[in-house]
Amino acid sequence: MPEVHATIESFRAALDAARAGGATVGFVPTMGYLHEGHGSLMRAATRECDLAAASIFVNPLQFAANEDLTDYPRDLDRDLALADDCGVGHVLVPSVEEMYPTPILTTVTVADITARFEGAARPEHFAGVATVVAKLFSLVGPCRAYFGEKDYQQLAVVRRMALDLSMPVTVVGCPIIREDDGLAMSSRNVYLSPAQRAAAPVLHRSLVAAVDAAARGERSVAAVEAVVAGAVAAEPEAVLDYAALVDAATLEPATEVSGHQRLLVAARFGTTRLLDNIAVTS
Ligand code: PAF
Repeated sequence: MPEVHATIESFRAALDAARAGGATVGFVPTMGYLHEGHGSLMRAATRECDLAAASIFVNPLQFAANEDLTDYPRDLDRDLALADDCGVGHVLVPSVEEMYPTPILTTVTVADITARFEGAARPEHFAGVATVVAKLFSLVGPCRAYFGEKDYQQLAVVRRMALDLSMPVTVVGCPIIREDDGLAMSSRNVYLSPAQRAAAPVLHRSLVAAVDAAARGERSVAAVEAVVAGAVAAEPEAVLDYAALVDAATLEPATEVSGHQRLLVAARFGTTRLLDNIAVTS
């Protein structure tokens, strides 16, 4: 089983000692309720680094008052068993008081990339993410840090923060892990009713159909986005939030279908918002 640390001090000391002995550190920040998506990040960290470490912390800063902070699913024993299976040596499981002993006055905001999509739907969200990730990077120290491409905008925000602030961290994006029917793995999938769960693979299906359209030569951004919007609109359990083709690096909205792009989708199934995305390369 991994060594579990309740304090920043002991987690930091363990990772500092490993680096002092010449080991490289791979770090996977999580909010727990781990699934095979997290498993793939932890396995990549174990494979690519001498020592893999993870954190499990449901970060209140990234939830708005009306969101699911108190209901967020938790299962520490199962999480530690998966971390163990993936070869993780150290896990930080701090209390809220340990992470934020005094009301936090210092926050990190990343402009532009956060203005649209999830940032528009959840105005405080990315400042909460950037702040906790900056804090985690600060206490972990030099490392490779692994994030899933499922939260594509989050990955872009973290990459830009690490670049802008010269953090000694290499941010590594890892492919989306899917259920057999194509639904992107997410801790929030447990909120779905059976009917919503049955409907949810429409997101991936619609993205694949849009990629097919682009591969067949469709060059209109509106037409590619409409493939996704149309498929989601035809699913009675789903309400589309956005379908957007963007530059893969800057997340600027595309003006034509060309180069390295990403097609993002967000939709609500009842009260649960699901995200998905896919590469579009033409
Ligand atoms: O993706 C998540 O689980 C969270 O946003 C993260 C990166 C662990 C920060 O709390």
